[in-house]
Amino acid sequence: MGAYHEMYRRSMDDPEGFWGEAAAAVDFTEPWTRVLDDSDPPFYRWFPGARLNTCFNALDRHVEAGNGDRTALVYDSPVTGTVRTFTYAELTDEVARFAGALRAQGVEQGDRVVVYMPMVPEAAIAMLACARIGAVHSVVFGGFAPKELATRIDDARPRVIVSASCGIEPNRIVEYKPLLDAAIEMASHTPEHCIVLARPQAEATLVEGRDVWWDDAVAGAEPAACVDVAATDPLYILYTSGTTGVPKGVVRDHGGHAVALTWSMRHIYGVQPGEVFWAASDVGWVVGHSYIVYAPLLHGCTTVLYEGKPVGTPDAGAFWRVIADHGVDVLFTAPTAFRAIRQRDPEAALLKDYDLGGFRTLFLAGERLDPETLHWAEEHLGVPVIDHWWQTETGWPITADLMGVEPLPVKPGSAGVPVPGYAVKVVDPANEELGTDEIGTVVIDLPLPPGTLPTLWENDAGFTASYLDEYPGRYLTGDAGFIDEDGYLWIMSRIDDIINVAGHRLSTGAMEEVVAEHPDVAESAVVGVADRLKGQVPVGFVVLKAGVERDEEELVAELVAMVRERIGPVAAFKTAMVVDRLPKTRSGKVLRGTMRKIADGEDWKMPATIDDPAILDEIGSALTDHGLGT
Ligand code: COA
Ligand code: AMP
Repeated sequence: MGAYHEMYRRSMDDPEGFWGEAAAAVDFTEPWTRVLDDSDPPFYRWFPGARLNTCFNALDRHVEAGNGDRTALVYDSPVTGTVRTFTYAELTDEVARFAGALRAQGVEQGDRVVVYMPMVPEAAIAMLACARIGAVHSVVFGGFAPKELATRIDDARPRVIVSASCGIEPNRIVEYKPLLDAAIEMASHTPEHCIVLARPQAEATLVEGRDVWWDDAVAGAEPAACVDVAATDPLYILYTSGTTGVPKGVVRDHGGHAVALTWSMRHIYGVQPGEVFWAASDVGWVVGHSYIVYAPLLHGCTTVLYEGKPVGTPDAGAFWRVIADHGVDVLFTAPTAFRAIRQRDPEAALLKDYDLGGFRTLFLAGERLDPETLHWAEEHLGVPVIDHWWQTETGWPITADLMGVEPLPVKPGSAGVPVPGYAVKVVDPANEELGTDEIGTVVIDLPLPPGTLPTLWENDAGFTASYLDEYPGRYLTGDAGFIDEDGYLWIMSRIDDIINVAGHRLSTGAMEEVVAEHPDVAESAVVGVADRLKGQVPVGFVVLKAGVERDEEELVAELVAMVRERIGPVAAFKTAMVVDRLPKTRSGKVLRGTMRKIADGEDWKMPATIDDPAILDEIGSALTDHGLGT
């Protein structure tokens, strides 16, 4: 048996021994009473009784160990022409001072703090400062509209919101403050204070008595020390798309998270302390939480926080420049970023301008990695390209190729083998395990390993209903796929209406809810259609109310504007078409899967339960008129 299989087996046979040993890499101030509390299934808690501080583990302890001069964070921002580095000592100091500023604004242990910020170092500082004083952060991605932010404010009920005057997209300045003010106006819950970072690219108006500038808040603040918290206390809430317009508040705890993330850096990513790790993502997504902020710092690495795009800032050589300039050892990003680079520079001609000497491995996740993109990256970079699969809920990879243990042969199209701790199974609707190569629902046997979600924020019932009730004893991932004879997992599709647009997770159900609000729309369906650059893009089909006559182009423009305004530009909802009817089963269920297949030009079968087969011809012609479906 090879090293990977041996390690995996041990994690299954003796999870407490396995994770108890892994926990030695984290500093706890009090030990756990036991590694795993399994007394209340289906709820499981890792390291009950233990106490620690995540921020201490990410920052102070590296300084105490004599590594204060090591670079902790490199901020590289082609959109502002800035590069700024922070040593571990400097970052610790900045975080302690901002933690003091939060305290001064009334934030106490257990209070929530919403962070609505662009990719600036202050976003990471705010997150770590919350961890330092035991406050619970909830970061909201900047591409979301005020209504989405308002929903999260109402669910998390923050005492303070941290924001900035603006974010910078290549084609425009995104003024955050008006979006934040609009969200607070919409929300039922009102934060006591907002701390606003002034950026020179946009001014902002403060609300007197409520808002304070970042610099002023920090200027008068006493640096705050690390507060001991329970390993099982929440570190953060991260909202993610569910099947409806209501996002799910994924909770992450302190102890299991610190242990799992530290373990993953060495074993999955094959990185040593002191090396440079770059996750080209956004702090608003789980990849940003785990692999821009927490994991690299917990492991004593240098992390790169990049405020730019793979192309256009200024060109398709941007990633090569960052790797060369900062000596990046390992890069993690979404396949869509590589598709964008390849589209602009098919021969990777810009690579020759840079020395990527020390660059070792490329990891990709967030959406399916098409073999073409995999081969292109392998060929031009000459390093292993690893597809790995995970989700906001798990917080770290479920399947991968463990570069720090025993690299296995890459199988293009597969997301690798199960990571130790994850008992990945493929089952049928009766919860029976399927055989090799048989496609079914991908589930994970309980308990999930440390670092994964213990529950949804103040919503245990929602947690069990969404993930645990359908397949008793197992966690429902929401993906379909199969396991091959060598134990590799192949992810085929989602089983719900979640789509991945440019690596961003979105719900077509939420978009349908918005479209349905248009006064002229009787019913609608939004499906995710394959896109060469973004992986998937949403496409809407709308049926007008009887008697309504509208110019299609004008109506579609209104729908596109509504989705942009209610969900945000990141939804990338740009295509919709008016149809006479939607294809349905005899019981009235819209046949979204069949519509998607027609739109993708895939083979499809006439569903036996279809109400009126002729409708599919109409859908086919509408798609052809829009250049889709062939
Ligand atoms: N704040 C405000 N708006 C944002 C935003 C943010 N943080 N991020 C994206 N947007 C906007 C974009 O400006 C764009 O607006 P537009 O419709 O006015 O052009 C819209 O949301 C869609 O953005 P995106 O899907 O990112 O498309 P794009 O065409 O701007 O860029 C890529 C395409 C592939 C270059 C880009 O998606 C990319 O870099 N992807 C990497 C994905 C990634 O890191 N995913 C994280 C998971 S690992
Ligand atoms: P998110 O919560 O945004 O990380 O999205 C998680 C979802 O993205 C998963 O449930 C999958 O549907 C999809 N996904 C993530 N990584 C991969 C991958 N490597 N291959 C295929 N799909 C993936």
